[in-house]
Amino acid sequence: MPGEMKMRACFKSAGIFLTCLFFITTACDYGMSSSDAPKAPKFSSAKERQAWVIKTYLPWMEGYSWTYANVPPSDGRFLYDLMIKTKRRSALEMGSANGYSAIWIGMAMEKTGGRLVTIELDQEKAALCRGNIMNTGLSKVVDCIQGDAMLVAPKLEGPFDFLFVDIGPVDVQPFVQAVEMKLAKDFIIALHNIGFAGNYEEMFAYAKSRGWSVESKRTDGGEGFFLITPKPMNL
Ligand SMILES: C[S@@+](CC[C@H](N)C(=O)[O-])C[C@H]1O[C@@H](n2cnc3c(N)ncnc32)[C@H](O)[C@@H]1O
Repeated sequence: MPGEMKMRACFKSAGIFLTCLFFITTACDYGMSSSDAPKAPKFSSAKERQAWVIKTYLPWMEGYSWTYANVPPSDGRFLYDLMIKTKRRSALEMGSANGYSAIWIGMAMEKTGGRLVTIELDQEKAALCRGNIMNTGLSKVVDCIQGDAMLVAPKLEGPFDFLFVDIGPVDVQPFVQAVEMKLAKDFIIALHNIGFAGNYEEMFAYAKSRGWSVESKRTDGGEGFFLITPKPMNL
């Protein structure tokens, strides 16, 4: 084959390869796009809006829960009920992802008159979190911050009566310690997924050294939580 023809064949193959690569990467992008989000109708009350969020918005987000490692719906509901039952007023979440659990906590905060600050390391996810919080009408009660929770949290104004550490399979103890000075006297710390107990060994040892109580809570069909409190609370 003369050189020019070889070159053309080569360019053609490269073109086919790049086209295939484009389609494969597009097909593999399971990320959420806020332009696809359900559009909110007009609501006459916060109660009506929350009902829409639970019936329409959260189920849409649940289609992406694998991508963003969100808590399952039953665990989101558990957090919501816990916030209301224990009258939490100032919550801090480390690891927002796209804001799924923040929406559950935020809706509870709307009922208790409290606020949530949620911190996400990844810029794209933090932007999604902000968009989802805005779309669900929770911007007044939920503040999405982009940054490393270990560095951001100690600079926030406390005290926090609820801390949800959900940053993936890492040792969470340094994150709790970084914000310990900001915790209210009657704090509740939640760690997600009782199946991840192995990841929490350092945290449990730390809790024991501080005389704190650790309780595990199963959720209906969910992954459950470890709840850490200064004294046994039987939550
Ligand atoms: C399990 S996902 C959070 C899911 C979310 N809580 C929910 O249920 O909707 C963990 C998130 O923690 C974030 N993350 C990891 N390290 C972090 C850090 N040092 N500070 C803040 N966010 C962090 C990851 O980017 C990831 O989005």
